[in-house]
Amino acid sequence: MNNAPIGIFDSGMGGLTVMRALAKKLPGEQFLYLGDTARLPYGTKSADTVRRYALQAAHALTRRDVKLVVIACNTASVGLPYLQEALAPLPVIGVIEPGAEAALAAAPGGPIGVIATEGTVKGGAYVRAIHALSAAPVVQQACPLFVPMAEEGLTDGPIAEAVAHRYLDPLMARLPRPKVLVLGCTHYPALKNVIARVVGPDVTLVDSAAITADVVARLLAERGLAASESPGAHHFYCTDAPDRFARVGEIFFGSQIDPGAVEQVDLQ
Ligand code: DGL
Repeated sequence: MNNAPIGIFDSGMGGLTVMRALAKKLPGEQFLYLGDTARLPYGTKSADTVRRYALQAAHALTRRDVKLVVIACNTASVGLPYLQEALAPLPVIGVIEPGAEAALAAAPGGPIGVIATEGTVKGGAYVRAIHALSAAPVVQQACPLFVPMAEEGLTDGPIAEAVAHRYLDPLMARLPRPKVLVLGCTHYPALKNVIARVVGPDVTLVDSAAITADVVARLLAERGLAASESPGAHHFYCTDAPDRFARVGEIFFGSQIDPGAVEQVDLQ
């Protein structure tokens, strides 16, 4: 079991930002990544649909004998309690609680800003996770165009800047003005530079990828699940267009993905 891979899934390629942090923190582990590219985006869909998709994605990973599942998608993390129950005793980790923890570590009393998909904002998962730990005020803003922009490689320049102003200026003008801004969607780290410029240097940006990797490392150590043999190659699965997955995935993964290593699977 210890040498089994770690499964990660997302609606598409954004979760590769989390896999990148995990692979860096845990170089002795093998990862299986699944992107549900046929049904992306999850962010505009209802919580019931997203929970159903998340369960199918998680089952595709458990069928491949993973030892742990990471939901590398903020929107799909709405299904965390449901997946934890359905897959028990297999550990399942989401990105929202680690993100909330990192935001409070950066600004213990807040105010905390959260930018995310429409589904994550409406579902209020960050507000709940932050308020479970602190009374810090939370202000939220959905940024739906950021996902297609990141996938088109439109991560900087005048168009990216104009869209970022449109979403972020009203958020920053609100009372209370956030000191910390959580990038509450795994696609958003690709737009980090433009977001940082628009909100200004006095706002700390929080990306849940690194702290999620810390949480996974802690869990593996606590449960004696760390791999003892050198890992095999990582595998990538998607539900549509493997070539596009490999090409666009590089924006998020930060290194080349061999198109031959991406396999198309059917989740239904
Ligand atoms: N990666 C998803 C998230 O973190 C956003 C993309 C989508 O809408 O499917 O919320």
